[in-house]
Amino acid sequence: MVARVIAVEPFDLVVFGATGDLAARKLIPALFHRDEAGQIPPGARIVGTSRRQISNDGFRDMARGWLENFVKSEERPADVVERFLARLSYVAVQADGEAGWPDLEAALADQPKRIRVFYLATGPDLFGPICTALGRFGVANGNSRVVVEKPIGKSLESATHVNDQIGAVFPEDRVYRIDHYLGKETVQNLMALRFGNALFEPLWNAAHIDHVQITVAETLGVEGRAGYYDTAGALRDMVQNHMLQLLCLVAMEPPTSLAADAVRDEKLKVLKSLVPFTAQTVQDNTVRGQYRAGASAGGPVAGYLEELGNPASRTETFVALRADIANWRWAGVPFFLRTGKRLSSRVSEIVVAFRPIPHSVFDKSAGPLDANRLVIRLQPDEGVKLWLMIKDPGPGGMRLAHVPLDMSFARMFNVRNPDAYERLLMDVVRGNQTLFMRRDEVEAAWTWIDPILDGWSNSSDAPKGYTSGTWGPTAAIALIERAGRTWYEDDAG
Ligand code: BG6
Repeated sequence: MVARVIAVEPFDLVVFGATGDLAARKLIPALFHRDEAGQIPPGARIVGTSRRQISNDGFRDMARGWLENFVKSEERPADVVERFLARLSYVAVQADGEAGWPDLEAALADQPKRIRVFYLATGPDLFGPICTALGRFGVANGNSRVVVEKPIGKSLESATHVNDQIGAVFPEDRVYRIDHYLGKETVQNLMALRFGNALFEPLWNAAHIDHVQITVAETLGVEGRAGYYDTAGALRDMVQNHMLQLLCLVAMEPPTSLAADAVRDEKLKVLKSLVPFTAQTVQDNTVRGQYRAGASAGGPVAGYLEELGNPASRTETFVALRADIANWRWAGVPFFLRTGKRLSSRVSEIVVAFRPIPHSVFDKSAGPLDANRLVIRLQPDEGVKLWLMIKDPGPGGMRLAHVPLDMSFARMFNVRNPDAYERLLMDVVRGNQTLFMRRDEVEAAWTWIDPILDGWSNSSDAPKGYTSGTWGPTAAIALIERAGRTWYEDDAG
């Protein structure tokens, strides 16, 4: 199957934090791929900014190195690399000061009406000052949009403050709060699966679904991001945004269309239906962990505290929790979420576990009857598996087996799987906000998260240690087993 590429309008994209990790690993490679695919028209420009003094050529050399590191050589023809690098320029700007802003304005001034995208790949403390300066120095034009990375704030209060500062310069329909999980192919496939098939939706409720598991497991540790990570932790870094967004897409009512607000209205209703945590349920229904030394990705690794160099840190690198949704569709169906660093394998998946059949007509000799399960795998080997009971082939009586109908996207569609940022960046230029978080969603998510943070900080317990390379603290197993369920690992039958 051939991917369809529709070129976007010419644009100027300014990246704040252009010498940072996100620009290097994600933004520049994503823009390059879109250029290579023919989606970026001639004349479109990318301007890097940060406080460092770098020449245009110096920035292009940095970008060349990132492409070499993060784009496979067979995917970067030399002529496209040169064409892409020629789009790049650099302006040194002091995000929270005066210096450089007039230079940035001058760099864009010859195209006053063009789409301008300001990508804030910086810490959230700079979102407000940058937006204010964009307004004050006249860099934002009538066709501007701003993209902000998560986390937006550290709590409801700080998120509200950041959103107010952004909103003072950019109206909501020009603010793109990025959650790159929403740009992942399989996450979009969740919508295709639910709303493009007649098969699932009639069963998609408490009468037929027993529970849902959402796992985002990483083998990596904090990888040089300890400074940021230690102020965030897994709850803020992963659960408040990525995991809750996945939960929303599983649990939301069918929207009337894929228009941005139609989808976001439905997600917001889910967030508002989440049963709030109390001091007691934080204790009973959440587990936080912190990795210790162990083995991961084939070799010995240090523990979080050693990596950080601070033995007193109580920052969690693992979270497991039970969420309940108080509405007609989901009452009584627990959603179990878990995420962590330095776990046993890198796997992100959503498991929708159906209820067992009401009555068995088979003899005991047929073997156990396992309930159906729909597994939506985000990474690696993206795809969908539907576990069914079938008859074991051959003679020997009626023996049953639990087997998956297995659809691997890589096998079925022989195309490169684009990175989430590729789609999302083009959506910003196209002005499509469907896959971006609206202000009220972010704030509703924090409203639910804040009591967990409070519960943890009021508790004398520290996060539970777990050995790197395992599935996290045993308390996470106890959490789900108390509810009579078990985590599905490695998706084995
Ligand atoms: C980021 C988090 O948002 O998502 C990281 O800040 C995490 O800590 C990453 O590693 C995971 O993304 P992906 O696409 O690799 O699953």
